[in-house]
Amino acid sequence: MGFCVKVVFFLTVATIDYFPTQAAKLPSTFGRCSITDSEFDECLRKNAEDAIKQLKNGSPELGFSSFDPLDIPKLVIGEGTGPVHVAQNFRDIKLYGLTGSIVHSASVDFEKKQFHAKSTTPELRLQGMYSMKGRVLLLPIVGDGPCNVTLVNTKINHTISAQSFDKKGKTYWKITDYTVTLRPDKVTFKFDNLFNGDQRLGDEINKVLNDNWSELFTDVRGGYEESFGLIFQGLADRVFSRVALKDIFLDMN
Ligand SMILES: *[C@@H]1O[C@H](CO)[C@@H](O)[C@H](O)[C@H]1NC(C)=O
Ligand SMILES: *[C@@H]1O[C@H](CO)[C@@H](O)[C@H](O)[C@H]1NC(C)=O
Ligand SMILES: *[C@@H]1O[C@H](CO)[C@@H](O)[C@H](O)[C@H]1NC(C)=O
Repeated sequence: MGFCVKVVFFLTVATIDYFPTQAAKLPSTFGRCSITDSEFDECLRKNAEDAIKQLKNGSPELGFSSFDPLDIPKLVIGEGTGPVHVAQNFRDIKLYGLTGSIVHSASVDFEKKQFHAKSTTPELRLQGMYSMKGRVLLLPIVGDGPCNVTLVNTKINHTISAQSFDKKGKTYWKITDYTVTLRPDKVTFKFDNLFNGDQRLGDEINKVLNDNWSELFTDVRGGYEESFGLIFQGLADRVFSRVALKDIFLDMN
């Protein structure tokens, strides 16, 4: 039995178009919550969900040229320790669907500088190019071409840690860690041009992947969680490192 004890989490995420790290303001259409509000958590939940929806067309103020889709030049999901004996090398990926997210709860611990949130994204679609060469469920898999990996109804728990820093007399938070757990109801895979374009073999392998999606996704879920964590960290840090804390939350002293 080919048991792989090695977990390879090699990933590179570069979602950043160039932007200067200059101070910014939140778009005026974003709601703000007072930290003295007794309903602070509900206010934050609602404003976060609303802000994410508003990012649909990007936000020049915050340096997002496009948010949905989000451009991801390169993303590697390492092989698992079970049936997925292949690294998924993605490039020129567009990530669709984040702005459809529903935020169920959100809270901030200002002492610990930590956020917690729970959300569901109805459809998260990674669309672009892939290459891979290895084995899945003991079957050989090799290919290079367009792909579509779709996560359906994904529940996401977010734990976000920050460190404060001061610049020109104002306090900002740098996002130092962003941990997510992902629980999709279903994942669909479509890898085109497998086996040098052998349509019959390619269709067969895609069917095996989709019929066994749960077992396969579970094996590499850690890689997806780590990748999404890094992507979200980059997005959150763009906002928090550039917009002073007291311009995000009202009644901070
Ligand atoms: C990607 O796959 C999903 C799920 O199968 C499907 O709904 C969607 O239409 C596909 N999108 C494209 C552009 O192929
Ligand atoms: C999120 O955390 C709750 C416990 O607070 C847990 O019941 C749930 O399964 C977690 N969901 C995900 C997506 O990890
Ligand atoms: C994977 O799916 C195929 C059908 O495409 C099924 O026959 C097979 O039993 C599944 N393999 C495993 C290991 O579950």
